[in-house]
Amino acid sequence: MRIGILTGGGDCPGLNAVIRAVVRKGITHYGYEILGMKNGWLGLMEGKIIPLDLDSISGILNKGGTILGTSRTNPFKIKGGVGKIFSQMAKFEIDALIAVGGEDTLGVALKLVEKGIKCVGVPKTIDNDLSCTDYTFGFDTAISIVTEALDRLHTTAEAHHRVMVVEVMGRNAGWIAVEGGLAGGADYILIPEVPFAIEDVCAEIQKRRKRGKDFSIVVVAEGAKPKESSAIVQDEEKDAFGHVRLGGIGHLLGKEIEKLTGYETRVTVLGHTQRGGSPTAFDRILATRFGIAAIDLVKEGKFGSMVSLQGNAIVPCPLEDAVAKLKTVDIELYEIAKVFFG
Ligand code: F6P
Repeated sequence: MRIGILTGGGDCPGLNAVIRAVVRKGITHYGYEILGMKNGWLGLMEGKIIPLDLDSISGILNKGGTILGTSRTNPFKIKGGVGKIFSQMAKFEIDALIAVGGEDTLGVALKLVEKGIKCVGVPKTIDNDLSCTDYTFGFDTAISIVTEALDRLHTTAEAHHRVMVVEVMGRNAGWIAVEGGLAGGADYILIPEVPFAIEDVCAEIQKRRKRGKDFSIVVVAEGAKPKESSAIVQDEEKDAFGHVRLGGIGHLLGKEIEKLTGYETRVTVLGHTQRGGSPTAFDRILATRFGIAAIDLVKEGKFGSMVSLQGNAIVPCPLEDAVAKLKTVDIELYEIAKVFFG
């Protein structure tokens, strides 16, 4: 059997660990040939396809990014895109695909399964907002980066008696903000799921000053929005999956806080540092388990499934359930974080 693997959408630490696991078990246990598609669905359409042997995956476990490259390409939005996928799969004699991605990449995988392509999914999103799985790899690395940044910002905030606003990733779900903020001791956390009133944020900052604490750390997810307003975008142009580029809420918030409270405020946007670098041990292990489970699903012929983490077990779930709706923040967890506001 010839199996193709691709990584699509935004990168995150752990992608290489998945590729390594698929190739290792695929070749050594099942005797498969494994091919890598360059840059997600784009490489498959263009026939940019490379053989992956044991040498090509040696030494990549600890590396961030993806040796295959990635892109936000939607073949269903490109004229003849799906036809090209069928013809390249025939040309390269690819029997089945493993697609590693989030709701966009796996949404494409599901549509291809419906058209008869044999495909298995591996969940990947730094935002941790994919349904059916408790965690996606890359997320643990991201919240470790946020935690370290908050620790560092605490000392300078305290020294200057400032308010520090820290903008983190999280387009539609505030998992990074809540878990990173909880671990890093944030004094206020703003998430897309709960529109905020600037007056409430300022009131908590004032309350804290009255308690004798003359600095504050406010964590804001990039998709957080003020009540009766929409998310702040960097530009209106949409990608192939209809997403606009978010960003800017941190600076807006910082300006408002300084104006309304009079406290000196600084803004840090963590941006793509959250997606870069080496994966944590947790992410390396989760990604490895996902990769092994994915090649096992191929062997068992369970196409149209996605591997997932439920509790501590890796189990298959239908791709359609995974992409049906986003997994937003557990409000009970947000309530825990709120205990430490102000
Ligand atoms: O979807 C993951 C994500 O990291 C979001 O949190 C963020 O809004 C977006 O990707 C950034 O995308 P890009 O890397 O294309 O700028």
